[in-house]
Amino acid sequence: MKKLMAANWKMYKNRADALSTAQELRKLVSDKLPEDREVLIFPPFTSIDRVAEAFSGAQGFHVGGQDYYLHEEGAYTGEISPSMLKDAGAGWGLTGHSERRHVLGEDDELVGQKTAYGLQQGLNVCLCIGETIEQRKGGKVQEVIDRQLAAGVRNVDRDLDPARLAVAYEPVWAIGTGEVAGSEEIEEAHGLTRKKLLELFGDKANEIRILYGGSVKPANVSGIISLDNVDGVLVGGASLASDSFAEIVLG
Ligand code: PGA
Repeated sequence: MKKLMAANWKMYKNRADALSTAQELRKLVSDKLPEDREVLIFPPFTSIDRVAEAFSGAQGFHVGGQDYYLHEEGAYTGEISPSMLKDAGAGWGLTGHSERRHVLGEDDELVGQKTAYGLQQGLNVCLCIGETIEQRKGGKVQEVIDRQLAAGVRNVDRDLDPARLAVAYEPVWAIGTGEVAGSEEIEEAHGLTRKKLLELFGDKANEIRILYGGSVKPANVSGIISLDNVDGVLVGGASLASDSFAEIVLG
């Protein structure tokens, strides 16, 4: 199973900056990228084609969309479809990110519908889950993981190629705060995630990648990536500069 080193650029970068960052990243990483690692960037919609252009022909480099809606086309002002993402060069979609859940108001049901729909339409999907600090303090980590996962994959075809689905465990309190989760907390949450995936998908769950996200930096990535059940990372702030993300990808 290849480790997936993913970047979420959120609402940052214009087209010129996205192109140059992706080109620099390719230059810094492509000769040294180990066989068992892949790079994935989620730029804003407006820059997907630019990142795809920068990565064109490079082995192990992928592009994704940060969101999409539940129809191929139609009167849905402001929305974008999986086929439009694919047309722009994206092979992946992201669902359930905490900012979409907590800032944009997406609930478990919508996240689940988007996850199943994107997969059906031929995107690979990275589904994000994770508890808030109040939920952690209230002893609800397992309950949140179980609930978000069950709802997130409710309508996903159980015959799915497991390489097409990734789950990112991102504790909300660690996102953008500089407060990375501790090794024990990560191993515990990833173990619970694997257990629930096994219950939902059977043995093939061992091939679904579980990424950690939340304040990953060049200085902490090697410790995190070597933990049990950590099959990659999803990086926000530290992915915006090519040199910092290159260190993470190779770290
Ligand atoms: P961060 O963001 O690396 O800036 O904490 C992670 C994310 O939002 O996916």
